[in-house]
Order: sequence, then structure tokens, then C-alpha cells
Amino acid sequence: PTNRTFTMIKPDAVQDGNSGSIIKMIEEAGFRIVALKKTQLTPERAGQFYAVHAERPFYNDLCKYMSSGQIVPMILEKENAVADFRTLIGATNPANADEGTIRKLFAKSIEANAIHGSDSDENAEIEGNFFFGGLEQF
Ligand code: CMP
Repeated sequence: PTNRTFTMIKPDAVQDGNSGSIIKMIEEAGFRIVALKKTQLTPERAGQFYAVHAERPFYNDLCKYMSSGQIVPMILEKENAVADFRTLIGATNPANADEGTIRKLFAKSIEANAIHGSDSDENAEIEGNFFFGGLEQF
């Protein structure tokens, strides 16, 4: 079935001028862009987005990093969107990411790893709604 996932291009990749190349890879992989914008999180809002990681040792750094520059959040649509998108982006740690994945090509470190991808249909909907209102999701 056709379904949706949520992604955002992270500050390191936007800062480096890689958003265009990343969006091109996403479209060539067969994803339709449902919604897209360029914006910046405050540390507080980054903290809300990553609330599930609040107890992790990397949480404070992550919130600082994710609010350090502009990001490009998107809602994407495709058959098997969540799983196929995670294959396209590769492992969280770029050292473990497969050749040809977005993180292998563009990520700098386990933290500055270029791009986010939702881990379930349920989180894709929650995360998409964090950035986009209903009238922006077509
Ligand atoms: P993502 O999977 O999009 O969401 C959680 C983020 O936390 C992850 O990408 C990385 O940016 C970051 N992260 C995950 N694990 C670590 C870690 N061990 N050290 C630092 N940052 C991490």
C-alpha cells in the first residue's frame, strides 16, 4: 500500500549546500514530495521533537545541533515508504552506512548524520504533523 514517511535534511547538510542533491536522490528513488519547507528549530522545539530521546546521554548535544541552522522537513509518499526510506538513507552511524546511501555520501558523524527518517508509520504521522498543518499535506 502507498503510505507516508517524514524526513528532515539536518543543519550540516543544508549548511554544506547538499539539500538539492539529497532531494534529487529522494525523487529518483520514487518518493513523491507531499510537503516541504525550510525552517529552523529553537533548542526548545528540537527538545520536543526528540522527546523520546530525553534520557539519552546525547540528548542535549542533539538539541543544540538540530537548532544550529536551517533544516528542510518533508513528508514523502511511496509504497512501503517508511522501510524503503530507511534503506535509502542508510545506518544512523555513517561508518556503518552502505555504499550509495544518503548518509554514506553526506553524513559527517553519528550526530551530524545529514538526514532523519521516521522509524514507524505512527511516528511518521506524529512527526509530519509537528511541522505541517493539515492544509499543507497533499
Ligand atoms: P535520528 O535517527 O534522525 O534521530 C536521533 C538522532 O540522535 C540521530 O539521528 C542522530 O542525529 C543522534 N544520535 C543517535 N545516536 C547518537 C549517538 N550515539 N551519539 C550522538 N548522536 C546520536
